[in-house]
Amino acid sequence: MDHFADRGGALFAEDVDLTALADEVGTPLYVYSTATIERHYRVFAEALAGLNDPLIAYAVKANPNLSVIATLARLGAGADVVSEGEMRRALAAGVPPGRIVFSGVGKTRGEMAAALAAGIYQFNVEGEAELHVLSDVAVALGQTAAVALRVNPGVDAKTHAKISTGRAENKFGIAIDRVPHAYALAASLPGLRAVGVGAHIGSQLTDLAPLEATFALLGDLVARLRTAGLAVERVDLGGGLGIPYRTGDAAPPTPADYGALVARATARWDVRLMFEPGRMIVGNAGVLVTRVVTIKPGEARSFVVVDAAMNDLLRPALYGAWHDIRAVTPRGGTMVATIVGPVCETGDTFAEDRTIDRVDAGDLIAFMTAGAYGATMASTYNSRPLVPEVLVDGADWAIVRPREDIAAQLARDRIAPWLSNH
Ligand code: LLP
Repeated sequence: MDHFADRGGALFAEDVDLTALADEVGTPLYVYSTATIERHYRVFAEALAGLNDPLIAYAVKANPNLSVIATLARLGAGADVVSEGEMRRALAAGVPPGRIVFSGVGKTRGEMAAALAAGIYQFNVEGEAELHVLSDVAVALGQTAAVALRVNPGVDAKTHAKISTGRAENKFGIAIDRVPHAYALAASLPGLRAVGVGAHIGSQLTDLAPLEATFALLGDLVARLRTAGLAVERVDLGGGLGIPYRTGDAAPPTPADYGALVARATARWDVRLMFEPGRMIVGNAGVLVTRVVTIKPGEARSFVVVDAAMNDLLRPALYGAWHDIRAVTPRGGTMVATIVGPVCETGDTFAEDRTIDRVDAGDLIAFMTAGAYGATMASTYNSRPLVPEVLVDGADWAIVRPREDIAAQLARDRIAPWLSNH
């Protein structure tokens, strides 16, 4: 459920007319809905309400805009971060350090030191070598790092191969059979406090069965660790819940279904549960609005060329991902077209031979469900300026990231000294 709706023949974001907004801010632009972000967070939190003080650590990677994080921080969300940059964003947006979890398979010493200095809640550690390094850094700083081990449960999440993370051949986590050894190591190293385990098996999960299998394995693991005399006080169940991208597709499991599974699977664990949802909080809360530059009838198919491109919204080019496409002001009728951007690659295609609202040059169209892994995966390929982001709240809106200035983009480069006198 989102707050992008047709009002009298024009697409609105809450009470803001997207046509007027696009005229004022220019295109392309990302637009986020506060009401949708808040609603999704609350629905997720309510689905977990029966648990004992769960920590919902929003996966900042999904949408790291400071205003998006701040919207969630106000509701009590923590943050799951995977770089010093994400950690600094979470802190700057008002997430208390005691609600920040640092995940990621390649944390540097510098990042570990920065996170220890900030006093974050927990490190999710991905290997034994990382334990040694973290111990070293913590001892040098006279600090203690709370550590949860990320388990690779060897479960196929049945999602796109590029975003599946829990199979044995993936780079993530510690093989489950190796975890007791690693956990004992964590418990014995100076500067570390082994607090728990966690798993994240993939993203855009549309079936709860792989999660159920993972939770069962984690439950057994917790029991084994305790039998071995090791204390386990937290379990991080990761993120991954899928969202609807395509009108007409079967609805993915709801947060309530997920919450019921969690309650059932973890009833006797006696731990603090943690969650790292990203996409399900912000995915449906954002759209990318773009203007049709031209319609190009081709030999084999017609192209709708828009002013957004793969560098602005990479998901279709990278994963073949589907985003619903809507005319912002439908003219009536439909057309079959291939929707492409101006970038010089055939992969710069948002949709192939898609039936869409009929549009003409100059019309606005919206790529729906672009709030997660949209703006944050953008690049400046083809020297295109990064797209602005606007946050709407009722009838209010604010530019929460201005369009990148081309002069500023150029100014980041330097002419090498031996070239500069020409
Ligand atoms: N926790 C960890 C350790 C993760 O790696 C991820 C996502 C999450 C939480 C959040 O997962 P979510 O709830 O959003 O599914 N760029 C891809 C998605 C990559 C997901 C990476 N990890 C896409 O556009 O589909």
